[in-house]
Amino acid sequence: MEQKEIHLKYRVASDISGLEPDDAALFKEALKAMESAYAPYSHFSVGAAVELENGVTVRGSNQENIAYPSGLCAERVAVFAAASAYPGVKMRAIAVVASFKGPDNAAADVKNDSSDSVTPCGACRQVMMEYERLLGQPIRIITGGADGSIIVLDSAEALLPLVFFSEALTKQVKE
Ligand code: THU
Repeated sequence: MEQKEIHLKYRVASDISGLEPDDAALFKEALKAMESAYAPYSHFSVGAAVELENGVTVRGSNQENIAYPSGLCAERVAVFAAASAYPGVKMRAIAVVASFKGPDNAAADVKNDSSDSVTPCGACRQVMMEYERLLGQPIRIITGGADGSIIVLDSAEALLPLVFFSEALTKQVKE
């Protein structure tokens, strides 16, 4: 059997001051987006901001629901909002930021009011990957906690080794 390897290259800034100016501006948009998070169940607020090629920035935040699976991550709220308001417009980058604000009675081993680093969940990576392919441009990802280090990646697909994407299904859609 043949052995294969997949390598991932990414960059890490120690905080927002280490980002390139465009990325830092988008990260600030994600911080603003985080203020609208509705996260009464997880207390984990996430903000996302998508920068489009037409210069527009679309924000999103996680929206939870008492029927837990009905909620949606900040990344998908922002990406779907961008795709529905501006169909066909390429997405240059997405910034994502998260902060955990536990309830006062949180267990002692859970950090209260901490900023926590976050990378997009698998479902959000899959969704971003599809818009990369649809629009023909990788989406740069800038992701981190409200304090501390921030990761910069060149595409969503880089975060999805051996991604599911069937040409057979896209052919059926075109027929
Ligand atoms: N969440 C996001 O918004 N983005 C992620 O990448 C990971 C998780 C949200 C979903 C849920 O509201 C809360 O964070 C806890 O999982």
